[in-house]
Amino acid sequence: MKTLQRSHSCGELTVQHIGLQVVLNGWVGPRRDLGGLIFIDLRDRFGVTQIVFTETDVVLHKRAEQLRTEYVIGIKGTVIARGEENINSKLITGEVEIEVNDLVIYSEAQTPPFEIKDGITTNEEVRLKHRYLDLRRPEVQKKLFVRSKAYHIIRSFYHERQFVEVETPVLMKSTPEGARDYLVPSRVNPGKFFALPQSPQTYKQLLMTSGFDRYFQITKCFRDEDLRADRQPEFTQIDVEMSFVDEEHIYSIHEELISRIFKETIGVELATQFPQMSYDQAMKSFGSDKPDLRFGCEFVDFSDIVAKAEFKVFSDTVLQGGGVVGFTIPGQGMMGRGAIDRWTERVKKEAGAGGLIYIKMQEDGPFCSVAKFLKDTIIDEMVTASKAENGDLIFLLAGPKPQVLEQLGQLRLMVGEEFGLIDENVFKPLWVTDFPLFKWDTELQRYHAMHHPFTSPRVEDSELMDTEPGAVRARAYDLVLNGSEIGGGSIRIHHPKMQQRMFDLLGIDEKEAEDKFGFLLQAFRYGAPPHGGIALGLDRLIMILTKAKSLKDVIAFPKNQRAQSMMDDSPACAEAKQLDELHIKLKRIQS
Ligand code: AMO
Repeated sequence: MKTLQRSHSCGELTVQHIGLQVVLNGWVGPRRDLGGLIFIDLRDRFGVTQIVFTETDVVLHKRAEQLRTEYVIGIKGTVIARGEENINSKLITGEVEIEVNDLVIYSEAQTPPFEIKDGITTNEEVRLKHRYLDLRRPEVQKKLFVRSKAYHIIRSFYHERQFVEVETPVLMKSTPEGARDYLVPSRVNPGKFFALPQSPQTYKQLLMTSGFDRYFQITKCFRDEDLRADRQPEFTQIDVEMSFVDEEHIYSIHEELISRIFKETIGVELATQFPQMSYDQAMKSFGSDKPDLRFGCEFVDFSDIVAKAEFKVFSDTVLQGGGVVGFTIPGQGMMGRGAIDRWTERVKKEAGAGGLIYIKMQEDGPFCSVAKFLKDTIIDEMVTASKAENGDLIFLLAGPKPQVLEQLGQLRLMVGEEFGLIDENVFKPLWVTDFPLFKWDTELQRYHAMHHPFTSPRVEDSELMDTEPGAVRARAYDLVLNGSEIGGGSIRIHHPKMQQRMFDLLGIDEKEAEDKFGFLLQAFRYGAPPHGGIALGLDRLIMILTKAKSLKDVIAFPKNQRAQSMMDDSPACAEAKQLDELHIKLKRIQS
């Protein structure tokens, strides 16, 4: 069978081309048989062009009658103007059609399990099972085109700035990024396993000790963790490390990168400098380390005001070191009893709060749900502090900090969504800085590294390492965009002694440290430059750029929520022979 050499794509012919002989290749879309005339929408990744078979050539017409949806064909024909009444102004090619004079059928096709068009409601399982068909749909393809463009921008951006692109191993030793590893058994090293990278963290630091100075890589990372809409077990990082830098260098270069990606992919101009907020401030004002700044509802701490109240729920909470914190919802002061009860149930169920207190700002003065326990003067003070106006509603939670802040943070997001306070066309980046170095694990009674164990403490806090590790701030930062963490990084420890001190505090003794990270400690002993870096979650960034609802929508072949690939049925059982070669004996029989 001959392949017709295409002269144009299906997305480019216009009135300028009228009279031209063209060759198009593509898939058969919707088809209308009007007796004498057969119209077909021919589709490729560039667009759709209407082709028409007339009865002039009876043999050709007969063959066109056999064409069905998703057949792959090539045609030759003449570009002609469409009749006035058939012009489709939504299509670039909508003013013309091709009168066909030659047809090659490359492939016939079974009827697909769903229509190849935008806006279908077919359930996700079916679409993932037939992902190659889902990927034919223009709205799915468009997201991957944005992704492809982003790769190009990212690579040029770093190369222009003398970064070196280096590939780091996929078969490696475990890196501690807080998730479980995917392990790969080694046939030639019985009983030994590689870990797939949770990130190339250790390698990029080694590259700094080797003098590479500026490294970047667009790389796959693997984390065996519980999945959510913004998490995949296999995802992509833009991974970066730089020598002789501090936080501001890393911020400014990445502000430039993100702004460029936004401008060149979706035409949006971002601020040239992104605001910064400390972790403490973010928790205090928004109850989250990744605040969504597209809307207000900033928290007000009423603890000092209510400390003196006779209402025990408030005063005891404050006395025990807890807080009474709230935020104002503009224009919801008329909310009825039933609706408020529903919010109370929701914040209890979804955020684990004990209850919800409110103040309605009514015409005849504020109405507080616990007014009978509070003096009017206290309510007035609270209203003044909140800056609420007539017609507004204030929601308050009382309880131990930091839980109450986190619960209120969740309530704030629910409220933002429910009352349409979030403008989907606005993009609000933010650097969250000064994260705590450690997180206390109450269950295991030990510290964990909040970012990872290679993160440097702030110099002015380093004395606290011995006395109050929980209070030490890290030189760590996250890049947050519209409430999503799209990147994280830190200035690293580059002295072996400090690195060992860090391991001690994390309960990793010298032997274990040597065992797990001896190569890194040893590399530091040969002269390591001060260095730091960041990794941006590429999938999350593309998800925001394309307004996708899930990471799955921006990954060509994603996994489902159970970390399975529906299409090729992986992970799958291994054959006994394979397991045997790998010296693996399964504990339970596989189903
Ligand atoms: P971190 O663990 O914060 O840092 O990861 C960096 C960014 O990667 C993205 N990300 C994910 N995206 C999709 N699915 C996942 N399961 C997932 N996990 C993380 C997030 C996150 O901000 N080595 C350090 C970086 C450094 O210190 O330079 C690291 O990996 O957007």
